[in-house]
Parts: sequence; structure tokens; C-alpha cells
Amino acid sequence: MAIQLEINGKQTALDAPGEMPLLWALRDLANLTGTKYGCGMALCGACTVHVDGAPVRACVTPVSSVEGKPVTTIEGVGNDAVGRAVQAAWQELDVVQCGYCQSGQIMSAAALLRTNPRPTDEDIDGAMSGNACRCATYVRIRAAIHRAAQALA
Ligand code: FES
Ligand code: FES
Repeated sequence: MAIQLEINGKQTALDAPGEMPLLWALRDLANLTGTKYGCGMALCGACTVHVDGAPVRACVTPVSSVEGKPVTTIEGVGNDAVGRAVQAAWQELDVVQCGYCQSGQIMSAAALLRTNPRPTDEDIDGAMSGNACRCATYVRIRAAIHRAAQALA
């Protein structure tokens, strides 16, 4: 039976079993491949999306649990001012190395800035601690979050 989801502001019906991880519903059924698969165990953060504005790990979130709630992916994060500021800061500071982890990083950063518009280094490290980067772009990520916060002030 089709599951009704609101993805990036659009009502979307997906023919997914309820227990399917949201990650696969997004990637395989909705064709939104910006959200990445890393560990599949809520350990790396590559699959981070927003549900009701909060960051969740899509790899361990059954699609049925988000029915009727707004889901935002990396493809839609630029639809508001916070997401746009984060994307712009990422480009200005050239944060990305291989890029694989970065959609998850951007989603966690945007969720942080929505709840804490002027985060300290410690706030950033805490909020981003579940997002692993094998290329070790952590210093640029932190600087870009400060840059986005300044742009939004
Ligand atoms: S793929 Fe979901 S946290 Fe690693
Ligand atoms: S940029 Fe390569 S894993 Fe983060």
C-alpha cells in the first residue's frame, strides 16, 4: 500500500513496505540520491535528513514512522534561509573533499543553526559528533558553520 510522505514540501506517495528504511525509500523510490548510505547503523551520519526539522538517521528510520511528517533532504535544504546560508558557507570555504559525507554534514549543520543560531565551537562539536568524515574536513566544517551563523545574524 502506498505511504504518503511530504518530501521537500511535496506530497509524495511511495509504494514502500512500512518497515523499509527511509533512506531506501528516498533513494530508490523517490529518486533522491543526495542522501548517502554509509554504515546503515546510525553511526556515520551520511544518511542524515530532517523530519519535522530535526536531524534523523534515515538508515534506521522506518518509512512508516514518518508518514504525514515533513521530511527534508539535501535536495530541499536550500529552500529556506538557514539551509541556503549553510550551502553558501560550504562553497565559500570549500569545505568538501571527496564529498561523500557532506550532504549529511550540511543537514546536521542546518538543524543545529535552526535551534542555536550562534553556536560555540563546543556546541558545533557536540551537534556534529555523529557525522563522520573520512577526509577529516572537520576544521572547515566548523568554520563554515560559524560563517553561516554570521551571515544569518
Ligand atoms: S548510513 Fe545512516 S548513520 Fe551511517
Ligand atoms: S569529504 Fe570525504 S568523507 Fe567527508
